[in-house]
Amino acid sequence: MHKKVYLKNFGCQMNVRDSEVICGLLKKEGHKIIEEPKNADIVILNTCSVRQHAENKVWSEIGKLAKQRTKMGTTVKKCGQTIFLPIIGLVGCMAQNYKERAFERMPAVDFVVGPSDIEKIPQIIKKLSTSGHSLSTRNLLERKIWETDGSIRPEEVYFTGFYQDREHVYIVISEGCSNYCSYCIVPYVRGPLHDRGHKDILKEIKMAVDNGIKRVTLLGQNVCAYNPGRRERGAECRKEVDFVRLLYMVNEIKELEEFSFVTSHPKDTPVDLFRAMAELKKLRKYLHLPVQSGSDRVLQLMNRGYSREYYFDLVDKYRKIVKNGALTTDIIVGFPGENEDDFKDTYELVKRIEFNAAFIFKYSPRPNTRAEGLKDDVPREEKERRHRVILELQKEISKRKKC
Ligand code: SAH
Ligand code: SF4
Ligand code: F3S
Repeated sequence: MHKKVYLKNFGCQMNVRDSEVICGLLKKEGHKIIEEPKNADIVILNTCSVRQHAENKVWSEIGKLAKQRTKMGTTVKKCGQTIFLPIIGLVGCMAQNYKERAFERMPAVDFVVGPSDIEKIPQIIKKLSTSGHSLSTRNLLERKIWETDGSIRPEEVYFTGFYQDREHVYIVISEGCSNYCSYCIVPYVRGPLHDRGHKDILKEIKMAVDNGIKRVTLLGQNVCAYNPGRRERGAECRKEVDFVRLLYMVNEIKELEEFSFVTSHPKDTPVDLFRAMAELKKLRKYLHLPVQSGSDRVLQLMNRGYSREYYFDLVDKYRKIVKNGALTTDIIVGFPGENEDDFKDTYELVKRIEFNAAFIFKYSPRPNTRAEGLKDDVPREEKERRHRVILELQKEISKRKKC
């Protein structure tokens, strides 16, 4: 039976692309993707765990859905069991973070699927809707489905041919991350870094272009580390391309008008990349280079693998080589032990570099990370003040740069 599915996205660009993949897989099975949660048979929430705030938004959304579900009393009797609609699926990074514990916290959730298991969603939906499986009020907790053990996605998921946007598509070049920045949950919920083969990537872009897509963004947590040959054995693999070579190959794709990439980790960003950016006509002159902090002491505690001087030097090279290149960054304020001097170092860095834009976050302790073991000792008001101060500085800079 074909279902009406509403999917809501909560995460980063990676989740945006994953949501598109999920919709593509469901459409292939004949399900209908709808724009409003009203009248949906199935609601899927594709979630983010990067900060506590991101998770809270999802818990409250599930609470609302559960309330509506009981109030509306939309039920279907099947095989002697009662199915309450909509079926609710928790998908993505939060699903991986909580696994089956999500059901204890929110019994209204019917299925939980981690980012590396998304190809199983059509099968789960089939199971839930054909057997009257999940939603009996009796034995509720026994009747849930969760899939959180996957490691590498099958390549086919990227080839459903479904695009949310007519002009632009995100192309995943690598999944997961092996950097283990001490504050970050991503390696734990997305798994270790896995590069897709360059032939698959190029094939996917060509297919998108054949479908009328004009612009692509190459996506990975650390795109500059792209090098499948480094990790795998075999003569052929060793000849694989690295990130800069991949850019040259993408530039060759006829009918592709423009492309960009995100995110670059400063420690892995080569000067060659800047030369490619200066040279390649279709490549946007835009670099997102998260610095996270301007203090060497904090950078070390964050396990970022570079110093502030290294970062200044890298930015100098970028600006010399890529004329009029745009530069943006991410910053975390209130990391454990960040004192006034550390904060001033960050302030000075932002002032000196003059980013086009900066995304500023208040530190949020995450489970399993190394920083979780450090005392979250910057008071909330102080985190808010530091956040405000950098935000105002950046606002002024962004305004000036636009004039
Ligand atoms: N791989 C990318 C994106 C990671 S998540 C990168 O390395 O930049 C996006 C941003 O969220 C990070 O750059 C960081 O600034 C922020 N972030 C990650 N974990 C955080 C935490 N525990 N608290 C606050 N901000 C965090
Ligand atoms: Fe997280 Fe660091 Fe990996 Fe980015 S590079 S996803 S901040 S661990
Ligand atoms: Fe993205 Fe959030 Fe997951 S930032 S990778 S959706 S934890």
